[in-house]
Amino acid sequence: MSTVAPPRPEAVPEIEPESNGLVASFNSVDTVLEAVRVLRSGGIERIDVHSPHPIHGLDDALGLKGSPLPWGAIAGAAIGLGSGIWMAWWMNAVDYPFIISGKPLFSIIPSLPIAFELAILFAAFAVFGGAIAFGGMPKLANQKFRIPSFARATDDRYVLAVDSRDKCFDLVGTRALLDEVGGEGVTDIPPVATSEKRIPRTVWMAAAVLCVLALVPAVLIAKARNSTSTKPRLSFVSDMDHQPKFKPQTTNSFFPDGRSMRPQVEGTVARDDLREDDQYYLGRNSGHGGLAANAAEKDSDGWVTAFPLTVDESLIRRGRERYQIFCATCHGQGGDGDGLVTLRALELEQGTWVKPTSLHAEPIRGQPVGRLFNSISNGVRKMPGYASQIPVRDRWGIVAYVRALQRTRAATSADVPSEILPNMRELN
Ligand code: HEC
Repeated sequence: MSTVAPPRPEAVPEIEPESNGLVASFNSVDTVLEAVRVLRSGGIERIDVHSPHPIHGLDDALGLKGSPLPWGAIAGAAIGLGSGIWMAWWMNAVDYPFIISGKPLFSIIPSLPIAFELAILFAAFAVFGGAIAFGGMPKLANQKFRIPSFARATDDRYVLAVDSRDKCFDLVGTRALLDEVGGEGVTDIPPVATSEKRIPRTVWMAAAVLCVLALVPAVLIAKARNSTSTKPRLSFVSDMDHQPKFKPQTTNSFFPDGRSMRPQVEGTVARDDLREDDQYYLGRNSGHGGLAANAAEKDSDGWVTAFPLTVDESLIRRGRERYQIFCATCHGQGGDGDGLVTLRALELEQGTWVKPTSLHAEPIRGQPVGRLFNSISNGVRKMPGYASQIPVRDRWGIVAYVRALQRTRAATSADVPSEILPNMRELN
């Protein structure tokens, strides 16, 4: 079966097989732009202009459409963003759910940094790969580089190239057109030799050798994981791997008791930790045991009743300041147990909130100062201890201030200095 090929229409030119196209040099921006316009109005589309600097208006003149690269960047960013959030969710809420301070297992906000980073990273990959792919790289040879005058495109000439694959390209006609628009040194782009189209054998061989070599570590790892050996493993920095030391919490035959950690010598005191004064440090008289952690003990249990330090105005002022920082949130500025935290907790009606004791309550007013001091230091039932946050002297300051607060409610005339007592009566 054979069909007779239709006669070629006039418009389709004979393409000379020895030519890849034509280049022509121009010595001004205006002439090259004009040449582009003339060629395009003649129907030629596959035109490229090589210039030592960017030319305004050239993209429009060439009819270049916007690059698809930004879309690639957006797609990469979207994938990165999605996978960042997915990763954070999967790790925190699925693979290793771990409640920290009652926070939700997954939340968008803490996942944003990683999602943001991945978005940037993936967008960069997309742009990098896209630029290479859209640029038609890698290219083994560029025939234009064979033309000596082409090099001036990086110096002082504007070089216009017409690709022979253009449907309106015609070696003779296009050459004449280029001459006409003022192109200098119109030259054929030489054809690509078949040898140049192929990747050289040596490159293939080198690539093959590299591929094989790249497998070696993987094979060695696979072998090591699937076989056993009686030899010790390779150790490059042996004094780091094998340190002559005893690890804590391990047995040790060196000491008779078999422990590698040594107990402290009896009576050891850390620097600045000598606290022999029980009244001052524990709020109780000596001989009533060590640390008084249990504040539910009876008041008769040796709590000091007098302050073991001088109470002056500066101590009370300091105590007031500390009280307002550490205690007022729960107990309220006036000590009635109506601090902001309390109000909020009651508003939320969680049902589990234990209301802070009013410091004006009769039992608290009757407590010895040592017991109040102990409540602050070690906490009471639901109330946490503040020993780690409030130094000893400040704790006594708070106790003094609490006493002053209590006085404001339960004061009697006996508390008022006799010289101002008459004035007070007058006021009432
Ligand atoms: C986080 C809230 C909170 C803070 C802060 C707080 N307390 Fe309390 N306090 C409580 C609660 C709750 C109770 C009642 C505990 C219970 O009955 O289980 C309590 C009880 C007390 C009592 C009564 C102890 C007893 O013997 O019954 C005293 C005294 C006291 N607090 C003093 C203080 C002082 C002084 C501070 C500041 C250093 C302070 N509290 C800070 C919540 C707090």
